[in-house]
Amino acid sequence: NEHDSENIAGMLVRCGYTKADCKETADFILFNTCCVREHAELRTFGNVGFVKELKQKNPRLILGVCGCMMQQKQVAKKLFDRFPFVDMVFGTHELKNFPLLLEQVFNNRRILRVDDSAGEVIEGLPAEREPGFSTFVNIMYGCDNFCTYCIVPYVRGRERSRSPENIIAEVRQVVNDGYIEVTLLGQNVNSYNYDGVHFPELLKRVNDEVRGLKRLRFMTSHPKDLSDELIDAMASLDKVCKHIHLPVQSGSDRMLEKMNRKYTVAGYLERIEKIREIVPEAAITTDIIAGFCSETEEDHRATLELMQKVRFDSAFMFQYSQRPGTKAARHFPDDVPPEVKTRRLNEIIELQSAISLERNRECVGQTYEVLIEGTSKRDSGSLFGRTSSNKVCVFPALGHRPGEYVKINVESCTSATLLGNIVE
Ligand code: 5AD
Ligand code: SF4
Repeated sequence: NEHDSENIAGMLVRCGYTKADCKETADFILFNTCCVREHAELRTFGNVGFVKELKQKNPRLILGVCGCMMQQKQVAKKLFDRFPFVDMVFGTHELKNFPLLLEQVFNNRRILRVDDSAGEVIEGLPAEREPGFSTFVNIMYGCDNFCTYCIVPYVRGRERSRSPENIIAEVRQVVNDGYIEVTLLGQNVNSYNYDGVHFPELLKRVNDEVRGLKRLRFMTSHPKDLSDELIDAMASLDKVCKHIHLPVQSGSDRMLEKMNRKYTVAGYLERIEKIREIVPEAAITTDIIAGFCSETEEDHRATLELMQKVRFDSAFMFQYSQRPGTKAARHFPDDVPPEVKTRRLNEIIELQSAISLERNRECVGQTYEVLIEGTSKRDSGSLFGRTSSNKVCVFPALGHRPGEYVKINVESCTSATLLGNIVE
């Protein structure tokens, strides 16, 4: 979604727009919405309602709402009907048509456009990227996995891979623009396939063929088909960072089955062992959902046990939230009471933060190469960056600048951050 925003910003620049300082002075405001996890609908409707008065002050102001929440037809229609001052509402598959839609709005038309078919991969959209040293490049779109809780396959369509040539050209372009770290993005990079080129081969080509690129990351890997080749590639390719994000979702086989994840706890642990054997220094992070349909205390304890076994470096942790249209919403009652979901999630967060702290303590006394990304928010004399294993590191600047590589000796830590000093 964020990259969609960068594409829209790129198209706006081509249409002659420049970035406004704040919403009060803007001539164009577009809300890019997401519907994957939270009940964000209420908040979106609130935010959109709130800008009505800006429109009264500035009649030139064009207002739009897009993103995957708007890809849900009934939600888009509701918003369009409720807020007559909104000029354009469009779904995720409409990105390429954005300049055309905007032109129609200029001709005094209101636009509601939600197209069901995602169609082919669109190449060559301009992008205004967040300034910095690290950026994202999509290697594929959509998802075919249909995890029963997940809306992504419905709002992003079927899996489509971009050609290696187009991907490499885009990575070269961003490196040319000054970025030195690139994260290759896909809902499940392991199923990348373009004319028989699979992900490990793509990774090798980007690693070998883009001069000036310093670091290469990728997200997300689905545990059901994390291949030995990918683990080997992480071990052997010099630019590929030692970090793998491997969402487990639950530690109970019954839940995994119900989620349609297509692996078991034993299968997941086998993959973890393999990673630790081949790339012992790799950080492993995950996603966990608390309180999925019919989850019992026993299922929940199984998740806590799995977390203790694997000892993830960090995790994104969520309460299950029903998404209309998914298999879970159609067939399984959302029957874990909210207070139980919250309590289980809190237990998961508490355990993970203790494990993250232990993991970070293991880094104290070690030296890591860190790519400096910016100035610390809390202390303007300090910089922050990340290690290859994606851990955030904060240290005194000593004349160094963002974009440089430094060696950091880690001296202390919290559960979220390593603290240290530049050596040499
Ligand atoms: N409720 C809670 N979490 C969800 N995720 C996806 N759908 C839902 C949902 N309905 C989480 C999963 C996934 C991450 C991107 O978002 O953990 O890995
Ligand atoms: Fe959603 Fe599952 Fe696809 Fe991830 S793999 S996007 S959780 S359906």
